[in-house]
Amino acid sequence: MSAQPHDIDTPADPYPGSMFSLTNHEIWVLTAHHEGRDNGQVATWIMPATLVPDRPRVVAVLSPQNFTHDLIALSGHFVLNLLADDQADLLPHFGLASGRQVDKFAGATPRRSPQGIPVLDGSCGWAECHIVSSLDIGDRIVYVADILTQEIRPGMTPLRKKEAFAAQPPDVRRQLEEKHRVDGERDRVFMKTFGA
Ligand SMILES: Cc1cc2nc3c(=O)[nH]c(=O)nc-3n(C[C@H](O)[C@H](O)[C@H](O)COP(=O)(O)O)c2cc1C
Repeated sequence: MSAQPHDIDTPADPYPGSMFSLTNHEIWVLTAHHEGRDNGQVATWIMPATLVPDRPRVVAVLSPQNFTHDLIALSGHFVLNLLADDQADLLPHFGLASGRQVDKFAGATPRRSPQGIPVLDGSCGWAECHIVSSLDIGDRIVYVADILTQEIRPGMTPLRKKEAFAAQPPDVRRQLEEKHRVDGERDRVFMKTFGA
């Protein structure tokens, strides 16, 4: 089914008819490194997974179709970069293109985490994570990861999805919305069913 045309001033609803229409996730760039190759992707399905203060742990829900996923599955590590509200221009760079087609770090000499993973400048903070468990649900893999080290830059405001989309030029916003729709159709065939 194709997306309904909509006024560009009224962003397409990514979760039509769902209570998730009411949410406005923070925008993360999840970076990874394996055997000389760097990559990163936008991710919004990131959440804390423990209240134990000295053993921080997160859940990341990732598509195994993404190149970033290949690197984190091979290395067992990733870095979460929480974008700041003035970094909306990074959304198409890390969320539209794939590292299978372009080198997203070409020409860059990023700072690196202890595991050698790129860390983005200008974000609200970053955390290097080590995968400790996972659940394969077909279209996505639910990763549980321990935070090994993190740095928070006080006083910065995280970028959120609705504001990040609103900041894009209309053609970029349309491409992002179309990718969301196409990825949803792609994922239908990978989705596992459980139970009866
Ligand atoms: C707003 C937004 C949120 C996204 N959230 C996720 C996410 O939580 N998990 C995921 O696997 N992909 C997510 N994506 C999709 C990836 O960022 C996108 O497919 C990217 O191009 C993958 O790049 P790669 O192949 O270089 O890894 C999101 C994209 C956008 C624009």
